[in-house]
Amino acid sequence: MKLVKHIANLGYGSRKQVQWLFREGRVTDADGEVLYADDAVPLDAVRIDGEPLDPPPGLLLMLHKPLGVTCSTKDTGRLVYDLLPPRYRLRDPLLSTVGRLDRETSGLLLLTDDGQLLHRIIAPKSRLPKVYLATLAQDLRGDEAALFAAGTLMLDGEKTPLLPAELDVLDARRARLTLHEGRYHQVRRMFAAVGNHVEALHRERVGGLTLGDLPDGQWRVLDEEDRTRLFAAS
Ligand code: URA
Repeated sequence: MKLVKHIANLGYGSRKQVQWLFREGRVTDADGEVLYADDAVPLDAVRIDGEPLDPPPGLLLMLHKPLGVTCSTKDTGRLVYDLLPPRYRLRDPLLSTVGRLDRETSGLLLLTDDGQLLHRIIAPKSRLPKVYLATLAQDLRGDEAALFAAGTLMLDGEKTPLLPAELDVLDARRARLTLHEGRYHQVRRMFAAVGNHVEALHRERVGGLTLGDLPDGQWRVLDEEDRTRLFAAS
């Protein structure tokens, strides 16, 4: 693929705008030598205004999603994309969230532009564990763990029972829930099915990945080691 198209696809502008970046001498190699639009150079040698290019397609990143932010490209409020550089919203292929977290759920959210990878993460048969910390409005009754583990719980409007899920009770109103699928509002609906209400929800883990020390609202690009860790827990 031509350099101009590559750079345009990374969201730096239309092909015309990228051609202007070349004409203005803003595209250089690592030594600061001005590049021309028809030069054939590896992408990792290219600099724009002295900065390396954003990662090429095949990008997987992790965001520590804050509360009050929506997993959508076009909601009226704050979007997860507002936490990334504006260019990231203009990439082709598109950067999508891997599944969704509710606006009022915080925690680990993955985003990728790799459709196959996205499918591999969310496909029911991959059964990647997702771990949530739930804070509840009422004390737990005591029978929830057995009910969730049974693999027979039917949520309203669903045709198949939920897969077995593990509940680890931390105290009267806090529990860690591990799911192996991702249905709509699943955690909130599971607790509603046992007469409770989720007051706060935070996703701690997807597969073998945790947020580590990534602060609320921050993100980082995941490398090969992270990808291995992601699937290691399936
Ligand atoms: N389950 C929910 O109810 N909400 C989320 O955001 C994720 C899982």
